[in-house]
Amino acid sequence: MSDTRPFPLAPRARAQERDVGRTATVYIETYGCQMNVYDTQVILARLQAAGFAPVDDHLAADIVLVNTCSVREHAEHRVISRLGELRRLREQARRPPAVLGICGCMAERLREVLTRQKFRVDLVVGVDRYDELPDLATTMLRSRSESTPPAVAVGHDQTVHYVAPPELYPANNSHLVTIHKGCDYRCTYCIVPYTRGPQSEKPPAVILDEIAGVIARGGREVTLLGQNVTAYHWRRELDFAGLLEQILAVDGLARIRFLTGHPHDMHPQLMDLIGREPRICPWLHVPAQSGSDRILRRMKRRYTRADYLAMVDYARRAIPDVTFSSDFIVGFPGETEDDFAQTLDLLRTVRFDSVFTFKYSPRPGAPAAKLSDDVPLAEKQRRLAVLQEAQAAIWATIAAAAVGQIWPAVAEAPARRPRGHWRLRTAGNRKIVAPVLEAAPGDEYRLRITGWRHTTFVGEPV
Ligand code: SAH
Ligand code: SF4
Ligand code: F3S
Repeated sequence: MSDTRPFPLAPRARAQERDVGRTATVYIETYGCQMNVYDTQVILARLQAAGFAPVDDHLAADIVLVNTCSVREHAEHRVISRLGELRRLREQARRPPAVLGICGCMAERLREVLTRQKFRVDLVVGVDRYDELPDLATTMLRSRSESTPPAVAVGHDQTVHYVAPPELYPANNSHLVTIHKGCDYRCTYCIVPYTRGPQSEKPPAVILDEIAGVIARGGREVTLLGQNVTAYHWRRELDFAGLLEQILAVDGLARIRFLTGHPHDMHPQLMDLIGREPRICPWLHVPAQSGSDRILRRMKRRYTRADYLAMVDYARRAIPDVTFSSDFIVGFPGETEDDFAQTLDLLRTVRFDSVFTFKYSPRPGAPAAKLSDDVPLAEKQRRLAVLQEAQAAIWATIAAAAVGQIWPAVAEAPARRPRGHWRLRTAGNRKIVAPVLEAAPGDEYRLRITGWRHTTFVGEPV
């Protein structure tokens, strides 16, 4: 689920349309997972309500925000170097410095570091403090000087649950709806429980209302979001399956996707529900992380290799056309060649549609940071390459078998190329590019698969 590329943002005012001199403008760049993508919509909505106009050129913005991720060291380094670059580009363009703000997980984890003079950051605003952002930004804009210390608002607040306005979503058909925040699992490698705080549920009534709002504006599909959605529980009354049942009762919804699921919480009762309800997409993103029991124990993942494989077996029987995707970490402290061989074996046994693979990155503050990071970098790189190669071979056979089949798929957005083609997605999360003329986001098609390139299929309407 995690990806450190910047995400494209929702439609917004062009820089030249803004009322220069009267309306202050804001630009925001988003790194990390979908939780940050959602939060970026919240931030923009708060700032717009306070009179700021969003622009998509950082050089034209009075306020430049970076919504950040701490999940691996690399993600943080990218943001630090991007901060320098944003400032440099500004100087080269002879523009006055923008008010520069850090939001997201790095604001929580590196609050003190980021306020050091050398970063020249003006705002540090943590994940539960976005309601304070418009005031802080306005004050900074009015009164900032070389010697003004950064304004800092960080720290978790269990009572804060954001609702992003549906009209600000990116223009595809799947509307993100965060159902909870934080995480209580504390896998030993992971910084998320510390940057996002303890797990805290958005009340079911708020979720249902949010989804009704999406539908009222023409949306037909939602992606339920959380670091651990399958652990959702509302006051011992309602678990994730119960929440899904309530969402299914909302009129007008065609599809529900969700991420991320945790293998520990993929109960048979939940899989049965997904299997019998066609509106819940049969795509399970259930990160395995490792195929070795010894490593899973050291990671505190709460399942064994056998549990994981039993879950996959059950899902394959209970859910028609189910597809799986996963995350894996290689080179966790103490991972031997034999442990890695078991990961490779799990990958080959399950035959995932797609996997995100990561080199272990020690996160100061996470429990595993106390263990010696004893797998050399070159060895981590080798294991990563072996895993990726194995996955490419598996995917090639899955993809080749798909050619000639006819799949239903939903149009999401025009493809960059070829011209006139659209990007579509199946319920099982397979991406297809096809020449569907005059499509609109959300339109449904039946496509014959004619080929594939990398992870995207090529199709034609039938
Ligand atoms: N909540 C999800 C994902 C959390 S972060 C889950 O429970 O699986 C997304 C992915 O980043 C994780 O699945 C893991 O594979 C990877 N990741 C997290 N911490 C990491 C670390 N310290 N080093 C390398 N990869 C990490
Ligand atoms: Fe991190 Fe584990 Fe929580 Fe996922 S379940 S967010 S990997 S601590
Ligand atoms: Fe990164 Fe924070 Fe998401 S650490 S993966 S942006 S919860």
